[in-house]
Amino acid sequence: MQTNALSTSPVVNIRRLKKEDLAALVNLHHSRLSGNNLSTLIPMATYGFYKTTIVSPFGFTLVAVDEKEKLLGFLMGATDPSRHSRFVLIHNWCRILFAVSTRIFDRQLRIKVANKIVKKINSKHLIGIHEGHAKITPTRKGVLTYGAVTNEAEGYGVFTKLLTSSFEIMRMHNLNSVVLYVYSDKYRARKLYDHLGWIKISESLSKCAYMFDLEGTKEK
Ligand SMILES: CC(C)(COP(=O)(O)OP(=O)(O)OC[C@H]1O[C@@H](n2cnc3c(N)ncnc32)[C@H](O)[C@@H]1OP(=O)(O)O)[C@@H](O)C(=O)NCCC(=O)NCCS
Repeated sequence: MQTNALSTSPVVNIRRLKKEDLAALVNLHHSRLSGNNLSTLIPMATYGFYKTTIVSPFGFTLVAVDEKEKLLGFLMGATDPSRHSRFVLIHNWCRILFAVSTRIFDRQLRIKVANKIVKKINSKHLIGIHEGHAKITPTRKGVLTYGAVTNEAEGYGVFTKLLTSSFEIMRMHNLNSVVLYVYSDKYRARKLYDHLGWIKISESLSKCAYMFDLEGTKEK
């Protein structure tokens, strides 16, 4: 546990993301998930990405808040990853193009990236937010995409509560399993998934894929 941990177990309420949470959520995402591809975009793009999950019928963001509504953690997922990805792209293409163009100053590279995005939007392979999801995400599988808790709230079961609530949503959509990718160096997260009964289904140098069987595995 961190030295700046809370002195007592926090009150943890789990609910759906609201517009008022967005600023704190974007901060938390950029501070705790710095190696991740969404974090390479400007905060405005991250903001749009999460804002869309408030209205998307195919995806959701859950937040954990304390009794004063202070953000302790979040978890984003999709019950229909393919349609959610399209929904996000359609609602955010302007933000994404702007974010990419502010990052890339080389004209050739900019054209290449823009072409790639357009190709991707038109592509039949647009199945997951990450390309990897496409290979392992047929129907009836939900995905969890991004999640983190604040430094101070670590070790109090906040993320476990978020995961449990996300399973309820997945079950309401009649899904039978959930998949997620985690960077290989996120040892704490990986240990937690192992402990909670997730099964590692693939591993590369940088990422591992985990699956949770909603029908067969009993939550701890
Ligand atoms: C990985 C991460 C999400 C875990 O969040 P967390 O809220 O600390 O996780 P939990 O508290 O639910 O579980 C962590 C440990 O605390 C323990 N714990 C649970 N409730 C507790 C409580 N009330 N009091 C003390 N400890 C508790 C759990 O048993 C677990 O121990 P274990 O790892 O030995 O099984 C968090 O460390 C984080 O944000 N990391 C950076 C971002 C990241 O890696 N995200 C995941 C990418 S997919």
